[in-house]
Amino acid sequence: MAASADLVVRGGTVVTERGQARLDIGIRDGRIVALEDTLPAAEREIDAAGRLVLPGGIDSHCHIEQLSGMGVMNADDFASGSVSAAFGGTTTTISFACQHRGQSLKAVVADYHERAAAKSVIDYAFHMILTDPTDEVLNVELPKLVEDGHGSIKLFTTYPGTKLDDGQMLDVMAKARELGAMICVHAENDAIIQWMVKRLLGGRYTEPRYHAVSHPRFAEIDAIHRLIQMSAFLDQPVTIFHVSTAEGAELVRQARASGLKIYAETCPQYLFFTWESLDRPGLEGAKWMFSPPPRHAADSEALWRALVDGTLQTVTSDHAPYRFDASGKLKAGPSPTFKEIANGIPGLELRLPLLFSEGVSAGRLSIEQFVRLTATEPARLYGLHPRKGDIVQGADADLVLWDARREVVVEDGTTHDATGYTPYAGMTLRGWPETVLRRGEVIVEHGRCLAERGSGTFLPRAAGPYAAPSGRLSPETDPARNFGARILA
Ligand code: URP
Ligand code: ZN
Ligand code: ZN
Repeated sequence: MAASADLVVRGGTVVTERGQARLDIGIRDGRIVALEDTLPAAEREIDAAGRLVLPGGIDSHCHIEQLSGMGVMNADDFASGSVSAAFGGTTTTISFACQHRGQSLKAVVADYHERAAAKSVIDYAFHMILTDPTDEVLNVELPKLVEDGHGSIKLFTTYPGTKLDDGQMLDVMAKARELGAMICVHAENDAIIQWMVKRLLGGRYTEPRYHAVSHPRFAEIDAIHRLIQMSAFLDQPVTIFHVSTAEGAELVRQARASGLKIYAETCPQYLFFTWESLDRPGLEGAKWMFSPPPRHAADSEALWRALVDGTLQTVTSDHAPYRFDASGKLKAGPSPTFKEIANGIPGLELRLPLLFSEGVSAGRLSIEQFVRLTATEPARLYGLHPRKGDIVQGADADLVLWDARREVVVEDGTTHDATGYTPYAGMTLRGWPETVLRRGEVIVEHGRCLAERGSGTFLPRAAGPYAAPSGRLSPETDPARNFGARILA
């Protein structure tokens, strides 16, 4: 078996969620074929001595080449976004195919496929954003799209252009249960936010810092609570995106403890920033404007605890890059109110270095937990494991040679995305990706991206066990009990 390797990654400390060991990795035709203390020489060799060898990161929440509900285009297309991801040690993205109202979901997904296939340098999949769940979309288009390997649906409870009401949420969740698809949700109560926005703008409180004020924490708490109830009502697994509050994490903890299939993520911005980040002169605070907004130091600490105890399964970037100019954040003109500024920050490239530095180097997380949060659990959650997110025989050889001692001072020019700024400028990070392999091909080495545009491939996803209903329906919805309408029959 070992003799058949055409590439050996030699002498590194291989880390999986299960532990770490000094091992050689044998690779053939892009897949891992051997893991041994010592493998015979191969045609090609990569010296990993002194380096950690980690599974390539999976960023399961990032916006690439997507038009926002406000009509602003992401700064990154699939070329710059995927190159930036690769430099940061991420070898798979799950970004979005975003339906705007009136559009055919089938046509939207086909369009994203075409653009990603032509440009992405890493492997990719899509969550389908549903904003217009018509009969045709739910009953004709969606079943075929799920069958074709798009096993997850993203819904919004807020933003005027994207939000679904409770009835629509239930419609989509019931359909997802039937199809075995995962539901992912941006959870904030829209009415509470709109109520705040109206009063703030009416009082001329228009600067970026009021963005944080306009999204009260109870808007998130209320929406998470409601989603957990809906999930229990229909027995439909739900992943709650970008949890920002201690109370939100606590609701997830309780739901999971009671056996519900609730999963959740947070993002580096909720671990690194507080609402004070937006409190800067002029429009500068817009560079830290994202939704939900950053909260308080105590929330960040609660989120770290939730990562350690398994309440939160993944750390994603929620990369939503907009340039700080008239093509992006300032599209509405030079003096916009906070409500006219696109929400989102870049994060694809620094996701792993940020979490490694503040998590592993600072002693909050073990390296095994880091791997689980950034690669293995996202792969499981979205039906990519064991092909992705792990270092085992048969898996794709997506590997990152990681220098745990390297310190980098982040500057606006450090990253390779097209945003033009990073909200993390000035921070010193300890631990950095050095060499990146995608399916056995070296795609980042010596500070250069070597991958060809369009060499990334689409990853069809069979719905995994995380997306499967538990079979524990509530009395109201259980057709076997014949209570009320047989809504799931
Ligand atoms: O501010 C954010 N997160 N923008 C991207 C869209 C979303 O809400 O995920
Ligand atoms: Zn969101
Ligand atoms: Zn997002």
